[in-house]
Amino acid sequence: MSAMTVPRLTLNDGHSLPAIGLGTWPMDDDEARTAVAEAIRIGYRLIDTAAKYGNERGVGRGIAESGVPREEVLVTSKVRGNDQGYEETMRAFEDTRRALGLEYLDLYLIHWPLPRLEKYVETWKALVALREDGRVRSIGVSNFTAEHLDRVIGETGVTPAVNQIEMHPAFPQSQMRAADAERGVLTSSYTPLGRGRLLDAPAVVEAAGFHGVTPAQVVLRWHHQLGVIPVPKSADPERQRENFDIFRFALRAWEMDRITALEGSRYGGDPESHEEF
Ligand SMILES: NC(=O)c1ccc[n+]([C@@H]2O[C@H](COP(=O)([O-])OP(=O)(O)OC[C@H]3O[C@@H](n4cnc5c(N)ncnc54)[C@H](OP(=O)(O)O)[C@@H]3O)[C@@H](O)[C@H]2O)c1
Repeated sequence: MSAMTVPRLTLNDGHSLPAIGLGTWPMDDDEARTAVAEAIRIGYRLIDTAAKYGNERGVGRGIAESGVPREEVLVTSKVRGNDQGYEETMRAFEDTRRALGLEYLDLYLIHWPLPRLEKYVETWKALVALREDGRVRSIGVSNFTAEHLDRVIGETGVTPAVNQIEMHPAFPQSQMRAADAERGVLTSSYTPLGRGRLLDAPAVVEAAGFHGVTPAQVVLRWHHQLGVIPVPKSADPERQRENFDIFRFALRAWEMDRITALEGSRYGGDPESHEEF
C-alpha cells in the first residue's frame, strides 16, 4: 500500500482528500512529531490535529522531518471554543499556522458548535475569509448537527466542505451522514475504532477471519465503504501500517449491515450540550 494507491474523495469546493487520515489526539508534541513523521513515511497524506490538542508544533515538526514535500501532505486543524468569534478566530488561525510552521492549511474546522456561546456563525465567517484570501484551502466544521449546518449555510451561503463527527460501529450516525450528504457535506469520522473497544465484537472478528485481515481493518473498511473519511489515531508504526492498509479487500453487504447493527452509543460529547473550550 502506498500513498499513490489511496483513493481520494472530492469535496464540494473542488479539492479532494485522501480516504484515510491519522488522528493525533491525545499525543503531545514529542509523540506527535515521531508518529506523524512515521505515518507519512508509511503513506498517510492527511493529518488531523487541533489547537485544543496542544500538539500542533509537534505535528509540524513531524511533517517537516518526514522527507515528503509539504504540498503532498494535507493538514487539518480546528478552532477551539475559546477562540470562537470573527477577530478571535483570525488571531487563533495565525497561532495555529505559526505552531505548525506552515504557509497555508489544507482544512480548517470549527471544533465544536457550542450553541450556548452563539458564536459559530461569526466563526464561520472568519473561516470563509481565510479561505478567500488563500490561507486555508478548504473549510468545514466538526460536531455540527443538521440545524447548525443550516444556520451557517443560511447566513453565509457557504456550505462546509466537511463535517467531522464521532462515528464507529456502535454509533453509526446514519441520520447525520444522510443530513451531511443532502447538503453536499463530506462526513469524516473521529473515534473510528471506538477507541479500540469494538474490536472483539463477533460481527467484526468473523469478518476479519473471512477476509484474512485484522478487526481494526474491518472497522476502518466499514467506514470507507460508507463513504466517510476515518482518522484513526495510533502512535504505533505497526498499527499505523495496519490501519492504512484497508483498500485491498471489500466487506460484503450483509457484513456491512451486521457491523452497523452493533449496539452502543457515543463515547464523546453531545454537540447540543458539550462545552469544550
Ligand atoms: N473533532 C473532534 O471533536 C474529535 C474528538 C475526538 C477525536 N478526534 C480525532 O479523531 C482521532 C481518533 O479518535 P480517537 O483517538 O478518539 O479514537 P480511535 O482512533 O477510535 O482509537 C484510538 C485508540 O485505538 C488504539 N488503536 C489504534 N489502532 C489500533 C489497532 N489497529 N488495533 C488496536 N488498537 C488500535 C490506539 O492505541 P495506540 O496509539 O497505542 O495504537 C488508541 O488507544 C483523534 O486522534 C483526533 O485526531 C476528533
